[in-house]
Amino acid sequence: MEALLAQYTSVNLASVTHWYEVAPVHQFPKNGGVCVKYKGMQIAVFYFARKGQWYACQNLCPHKLEMVLSRGLLGDENGVPKVACALHKKTFSLETGENLNGDLPSIATYPVKVQGEKVFIGFKE
Ligand code: FES
Repeated sequence: MEALLAQYTSVNLASVTHWYEVAPVHQFPKNGGVCVKYKGMQIAVFYFARKGQWYACQNLCPHKLEMVLSRGLLGDENGVPKVACALHKKTFSLETGENLNGDLPSIATYPVKVQGEKVFIGFKE
């Protein structure tokens, strides 16, 4: 179980060493997420259309270690973009990964960039 969580470490923009091309913009639902597989990891990528922003985080919810966050609901808490897990509604900041309604471990977050019509996730390798 711990090994699953240990695969995921937040990456900040300054430390990106590899931009992984995910898919064209039109393949993402507005105000929803998709799951992307990368090197044995599952990454949830969200297009928060209401804010005009993109976010990425681990798909693994630290509550029951289910791969479900890409199916979560997007929202806003005092200006902080968040995702609510589809199973038990634990919420996490999409900026810092912090659990906003409990004391679960933070989730890992990753930078996203859009170039032309293509969406990329930033990783540190
Ligand atoms: S598994 Fe995500 S809140 Fe329970």
